[in-house]
Amino acid sequence: MDLRSAALLPAWLLLLAAAAAAAPAAGPAELPSYVELCDRNHPERDACYAESLQRLLPILANGSQELGLAALDPHLLPEMLLQYKQGQVAGKMLIRNTRSIGLTSAQVLAVRSNLNDSNKFHMEVDLYFPRIFMEGDYKAQGKIVVFPIEGKGVYNISLTGVSTTWNLTGTHIKKRNQGYVRLDHFYMFPEVEDMKVYASNLFTGNEDFNRAALQFANDFWPVIYEELLPFANEAWDKVMRASANKVFLKFPFDTLFPAA
Ligand SMILES: *[C@@H]1O[C@H](CO)[C@@H](O)[C@H](O)[C@H]1NC(C)=O
Ligand SMILES: *[C@@H]1O[C@H](CO)[C@@H](O)[C@H](O)[C@H]1NC(C)=O
Ligand SMILES: *[C@@H]1O[C@H](CO)[C@@H](O)[C@H](O)[C@H]1NC(C)=O
Ligand SMILES: *[C@@H]1O[C@H](CO)[C@@H](O)[C@H](O)[C@H]1NC(C)=O
Repeated sequence: MDLRSAALLPAWLLLLAAAAAAAPAAGPAELPSYVELCDRNHPERDACYAESLQRLLPILANGSQELGLAALDPHLLPEMLLQYKQGQVAGKMLIRNTRSIGLTSAQVLAVRSNLNDSNKFHMEVDLYFPRIFMEGDYKAQGKIVVFPIEGKGVYNISLTGVSTTWNLTGTHIKKRNQGYVRLDHFYMFPEVEDMKVYASNLFTGNEDFNRAALQFANDFWPVIYEELLPFANEAWDKVMRASANKVFLKFPFDTLFPAA
């Protein structure tokens, strides 16, 4: 950008700000037509939600501007912090630039909802993911089971047969005189049939230690996974809640869950 156009920039910003101020206040957002709605008082509503979500998932692969959601498959997660403490053992793992594949291939098995309570929102979704592959950068410090780790590198995880329940709880709130739900928690404790992990540089350059630790991790992943799961649940809660709240806080409750 040359000096002249740079000097023009503030004028443009002022014009834009004025245009935004002059625009009529937008009403509550409307859902795109590919979201199939269900009558929340219908006796079969949960089956309807399950079908609707099942059809929606692959559509969200590339994200949705209308819903304000980034691409789901592949899904990019800039950062997640996993902090754990088990007795005397504590550690943390910062996971960056994670790219996940397979999230939209899930089968939606069942939905259980309680939408009639004016205080609390509660919905559970049972899902099965045939395969999930994740890769990214990590930085770790501490101990996992018996292994002290202190490293920085790349990792990847291949998961097969992942079963989970998404447990969503929320509170009804008012925004501009409209009722919305704000999620308080998005819990999950996935069960995994098989897992393969790879990580480079777990011991800052010691390849033999790295190989041994990976061998251990791949032989005994169920033990490690069980130990980390409650802490992973906390980390996922933050990430998933923030994503889901983009939708929940954008569309009024009556828009997302209309009653006939
Ligand atoms: C929710 O409450 C409405 C009004 O009281 C009632 O008609 C409806 O059957 C209830 N729905 C469920 C799923 O309990
Ligand atoms: C997502 O984008 C890719 C690449 O542009 C395209 O091949 C694919 O069909 C799109 N998927 C959906 C569900 O729109
Ligand atoms: C995980 O990364 C390692 C090292 O880059 C690579 O050899 C391996 O093929 C990757 N795993 C998968 C399933 O891509
Ligand atoms: C779902 O989470 C809530 C707390 O947010 C908890 O009270 C409830 O027991 C959980 N339900 C299941 C089935 O785990």
